[in-house]
Amino acid sequence: MSDTSKTALIIGASRGLGLGLAQQFLARGWNVVATVRQPSAELDALGATAGGRLRTESGVDIDHPDQVLDLCQRLAGARFDLLFVNAGVNTRAGDTIDVVPDAEVLRLYMTNAVSPVRTAETLAELVDPAGTIGFMTSILGSIASAAGGGHEAYRASKVALNMLVRCFGARAAGKDRTLLLLHPGWVRTDMGGPQAAVDVETSTTGLADVITARLGSGGLAYLDYTGKEIPW
Ligand SMILES: NC(=O)c1ccc[n+]([C@@H]2O[C@H](COP(=O)([O-])OP(=O)(O)OC[C@H]3O[C@@H](n4cnc5c(N)ncnc54)[C@H](OP(=O)(O)O)[C@@H]3O)[C@@H](O)[C@H]2O)c1
Repeated sequence: MSDTSKTALIIGASRGLGLGLAQQFLARGWNVVATVRQPSAELDALGATAGGRLRTESGVDIDHPDQVLDLCQRLAGARFDLLFVNAGVNTRAGDTIDVVPDAEVLRLYMTNAVSPVRTAETLAELVDPAGTIGFMTSILGSIASAAGGGHEAYRASKVALNMLVRCFGARAAGKDRTLLLLHPGWVRTDMGGPQAAVDVETSTTGLADVITARLGSGGLAYLDYTGKEIPW
């Protein structure tokens, strides 16, 4: 089903899941603004098939608030039904926290937790008052589900993201926006690796279904790509 009246802003769409989400929303008839740090040949190729419904904004590193502010100013006057912050990193996955260098711990914390919420804060004025703001988290950010170990610095950064989004939602209490923290599954991207269980198309089809089903529902939900609730 197509809906040409809706517009999404996807942050971090050069490759992997962000690119897949841009493709999904275009396929559903949405207009999409997709951001990248550096030009992306894959996103450009998608744009060439999108009939003018994909706009790409380059030079947007979420760890540089000035670049996010510049984006906000370039998009002034636009009104988005969906802002989705997908950007994230995972390094030193096999290392326990005691051996991950401080700089890397801090980079994960900033890029995965602090910068996504600051980005949403800056860009929120462009989102419809009844619109949706989504974040790509992970089931690894669920304390209740963390029976196993591994990915320690990454897990902690996604726990922090979940908490900061709850705080963001609490600050916005009384507003009608929908906040979503979404887990894409273990997906075959540069981050997920070739052994991952799910392909990008399956994950992003599910994510786009979950997002569209929740449009206008209000509140905050932590869900996987099948729509299943994840315990905090
Ligand atoms: N793949 C999985 O199994 C999995 C599972 C759970 C959660 N996730 C989450 O899903 C999201 C996307 O992951 P992915 O698997 O698609 O990873 P990916 O293939 O490594 O892609 C990561 C994306 O994030 C962008 N990015 C990274 N740091 C950024 C920054 N500082 N500013 C702006 N963009 C930045 C990258 O841009 P560049 O091309 O410029 O580097 C790229 O577009 C992440 O938040 C990740 O934590 C993934």
